[in-house]
Amino acid sequence: MQTFGSLPHAHFAPRRNWLNDPNGLVRHDGRYHLFFQYNPEGVDHGNMSWGHASSTDLVLWEEHSVALLWDEHAQIFSGSAVFDEGNTSGFGTDEEPALVAIYTAAAADLQTQALAYSTDGGSTWTKYAGNPVLDRGSADFRDPKVFRYRGSAGEYWVMVAVEAVERRVVLYRSDDLKQWSFLSEYGPRGAVEGVWECPDLFPLAVDGDPADVRWVMLISLNAGAPAGGSGTQYVVGSFDGTTFIPEPSDEVLWLDHGRDDYAGVTFSGLPDEERTLIAWMSNWDYAGDLPYREDEPRRGAMTLARRLELTLVDGRPLLRQTPVGPEVAETARVSGIRAEEWTTLPAALPACARVELVVELGDAAGVELRLGHDDDLRGGIALSYDPATGVLAHDRTAADSRFPDAFRSVQSLPTAGGTRLELTVWVDIGSVEVFADDGVSVLTDLTAGAAGEGVSVRGRGGSVDVAHLSIAAPRG
Ligand code: FRU
Repeated sequence: MQTFGSLPHAHFAPRRNWLNDPNGLVRHDGRYHLFFQYNPEGVDHGNMSWGHASSTDLVLWEEHSVALLWDEHAQIFSGSAVFDEGNTSGFGTDEEPALVAIYTAAAADLQTQALAYSTDGGSTWTKYAGNPVLDRGSADFRDPKVFRYRGSAGEYWVMVAVEAVERRVVLYRSDDLKQWSFLSEYGPRGAVEGVWECPDLFPLAVDGDPADVRWVMLISLNAGAPAGGSGTQYVVGSFDGTTFIPEPSDEVLWLDHGRDDYAGVTFSGLPDEERTLIAWMSNWDYAGDLPYREDEPRRGAMTLARRLELTLVDGRPLLRQTPVGPEVAETARVSGIRAEEWTTLPAALPACARVELVVELGDAAGVELRLGHDDDLRGGIALSYDPATGVLAHDRTAADSRFPDAFRSVQSLPTAGGTRLELTVWVDIGSVEVFADDGVSVLTDLTAGAAGEGVSVRGRGGSVDVAHLSIAAPRG
């Protein structure tokens, strides 16, 4: 049986204490580095520092000692990291350039951008003596994401950060990461109900076509997302090295329709066609109220890493996410089972699994699925699908009383619809990630954990055909 709060198998979570946003995602020298908002002293948000983990495959993470520790002047809020290959900052040498972290130094009423560098491949970090490098006199200026711009306007560093309360993304440029000059700003526009946080900006070729490259801006909002609370909107447009111009559209696009996918940003140091995102798998609505194990107090985990692509759907460029899961081996395969009443399938759900499912609804008005229930069909992940609306719902209302009220909610994932439901679902201890429409429609939610290993299905208003169910578990 899964226990909420135990270490997940395929998702990064720290051994102890509080985690929120991913920070400083960078691939360098064959390793992926994941820094993260971390309280080294407890299970609540506070004493914010950068924890550190690294991996060779984005799945198995090794946790390291704290990379950047808060001090009496400031907490270390979110930011990014780059490999300064040309030694533009002078923190390294031409032969051995440095990794440079750009983070927010957060004091009580002032947030500025600051640097730290590592000349040993990310193990140890030194805060720059000349900090801060960018100060607007603002109390809500944070979350710098820096990337190397190479385009018609030249080659230089670009920073996107937020004026969070003003709902503005501000863009700056630099030649040496130390001196920054203002380029432009974006917003308020689109979803503005919550303060804006953790922006990102990157190019993607539409359906892999190098002649059709668009720029994608990610903007996380700490409140007011469709599922409730925190969420991330994205905007497709163009960037000429100075200004981001959105494509005309009244629609707000959401990266994820679940409750628990926030502050996602992408790796530096990967080719554009391997654009890879990791997000914090929680929600400011209740992150600090989630239950934890007394013997292993920890709160917070990351989503699976996801490769991002842009694909045209009915003429609109939309993001497609493909999860980077562990290598798996199939443990069960089922096909051609018809179900009207609850029918338990001959397939057990391991604590961590990839589930691939195709259900033909025919004339049925809907289908319900239960993943990981006990012998009495209690507990587990409750999904349902309505072909008339195309909505796939995840119902957490049965979560037990250890969970805060805000957690006991129903999330709705709008899909392309139709009478054939085709999903890839990743289940792990305390989480579910659902990929529909081939990854264009995604829902990420924490769960109360499985009660057992049962997998059942029933039709609503008619029988449904489980045309294909494959369950696969990580090898070894
Ligand atoms: C987003 C955020 C960031 C901030 C960090 C503080 O979740 O609020 O804006 O830098 O968390 O931990």
